[in-house]
Amino acid sequence: MIYLKSDAEIEKIQNAGRIVGNALQELKRIIEPGISLLEIDKIAEDFAYKNKAKPAFKGYHSYPASICLSVNNVVVHGIPNNYVLKSGDILGLDYGIELEGYFGDSAITVPVGDVSPESLQLIEVTRRSLEIGIENATMGSRIGDISYSIQHYVESFSYSVVRNFVGHGIGKKLHEEPPVPNYGLKGKGIKLERGMVLALEPMVNAGGPETLVLADGWTAVTKDGSLSAHFEHTVAITKNGPRILTHPDLSLS
Ligand code: MF3
Ligand code: CO
Repeated sequence: MIYLKSDAEIEKIQNAGRIVGNALQELKRIIEPGISLLEIDKIAEDFAYKNKAKPAFKGYHSYPASICLSVNNVVVHGIPNNYVLKSGDILGLDYGIELEGYFGDSAITVPVGDVSPESLQLIEVTRRSLEIGIENATMGSRIGDISYSIQHYVESFSYSVVRNFVGHGIGKKLHEEPPVPNYGLKGKGIKLERGMVLALEPMVNAGGPETLVLADGWTAVTKDGSLSAHFEHTVAITKNGPRILTHPDLSLS
């Protein structure tokens, strides 16, 4: 069942999403060599409570932290630990909160200190692939149009899109129908309707698409050890086109 949202509900999701965007913007500013993943998790957790919101990931299927922090070859769902970031790392930050019964979910990947041109290009291509996916999230298009546009762009750089994890509907729950793969065919899949709210989240590997989950049950890594990047926005399908609900409130910065 795909649950379509009213305009009032989209506002609610945007109120949640704005907090997520603001948090990621603040976290991005403090990322530098020497900070530990546990310190970042603490700041992410405090940010939610300061804004009268709840970290959405903590306790979700027993996930133990408030944010997912994925370093280098970690694709997604890295669990914050005592690892200390060093110059040259790339860090994925995936964060979600619940506010008054509605959820927002967003992710960015950022360079730590001085990073190789190859790593910067992987980050930029992944960021742009999300933007392209969002441009295709229009009423009357199909899920496959989003999927294809992301895959086509990413593969033109000889990178791979991850298959084992996909985007998702979101709103009154963190994960709702429908799944939104980052690979697929134009014109296939369900039709996008006004009121759908989707978390688009391309995960891009510098090498092959295969992933493995570590013994902790969460941490997903590239099978070939290659670098991976991830970006995500919560997006509403509206009659005026796609509307990103996880932008930071730029008037605060
Ligand atoms: N953005 C991730 C996702 O949509 C966050 C889930 S992490 C979890 O899958 F811990 F909450 F599962
Ligand atoms: Co998500």
